Amino acid sequence: MAILITGASSGIGESLAREAARRKHDIVLVARRKDKLEEIADELSKRFNIHAEIVVADLTDQNDIKKVEKRITKNDIDVLINNAGFGSAGPFAELNIENELNEIDLNVRALVQLSYSGVKSMLERDIGTIVNISSLASYMPMTGNAVYGATKAFVTSFSHALREELGETGINVMVVCPGMTSTEFFERSKWKDATKKSPYPNFMWQTSQQVAELIFSGIDKQRTVVVPGLANKFAAAIASSLPGSVTRKITALVAKGRRLR
Ligand SMILES: NC(=O)c1ccc[n+]([C@@H]2O[C@H](COP(=O)([O-])OP(=O)(O)OC[C@H]3O[C@@H](n4cnc5c(N)ncnc54)[C@H](OP(=O)(O)O)[C@@H]3O)[C@@H](O)[C@H]2O)c1
Repeated sequence: MAILITGASSGIGESLAREAARRKHDIVLVARRKDKLEEIADELSKRFNIHAEIVVADLTDQNDIKKVEKRITKNDIDVLINNAGFGSAGPFAELNIENELNEIDLNVRALVQLSYSGVKSMLERDIGTIVNISSLASYMPMTGNAVYGATKAFVTSFSHALREELGETGINVMVVCPGMTSTEFFERSKWKDATKKSPYPNFMWQTSQQVAELIFSGIDKQRTVVVPGLANKFAAAIASSLPGSVTRKITALVAKGRRLR
């Protein structure tokens, strides 16, 4: 089995690459940092005797996306994991609009584009799995991370609809909604400083390895949704059952605690 993972140079994507290799799957790793990708691919191919290749690509750049699409249309990818993403933080009017649009390009546009190539290629063989990494943030409007939350709401909604459309085929679409996971994610934006006085208790945090293992278990069981961890499952269930007026107030309070508004 061959698995293509975007955003494989750190965090959840790197852990997914490690878990895939441990399970003896061939891997195609995509991200911008060539040195990190080379290091991971080298280590994993030697250690687990698998084929590991890299595609260096900035998924907000159309020419680079074409490189990844070209790799997908070789028609040997069994699992496509759309994991690359980032999240900006702060009051919308104070953020850099170019960065916000970049976030939409990566979290939404690239994911849709690669899903399209993946589905087309998998339909030819009538087998495959698309895994889209969304977030617990997709369950509620995210005050202080308005664009990020909205991109992830798109990913969750898109994935559910796609799964139903492909219901009669051999292709599964699974969406993953992680909660707080210790990765580079928080260093890439204002989130880290903002979370110095974090309102999130320790038990809510997971490692990227824990999340990756749960994702593979979800792939094996052909799940529709994976919400990693009990605390996150509970939060998702509460957020889904409360009226929007209440979840809006809750996330506004949390944003205040994180000094994001
Ligand atoms: N950490 C959390 O608490 C959390 C919670 C819920 C959901 N998530 C989601 O999980 C996914 C992975 O995030 P993470 O937590 O593992 O964060 P991370 O450690 O920052 O990893 C992000 C990955 O995306 C890649 N990436 C970023 N911009 C890119 C671009 N323009 N083109 C190609 N690749 C790009 C990065 O590699 P390069 O810099 O080398 O390109 C990196 O490999 C994201 O979709 C995130 O929204 C994370």
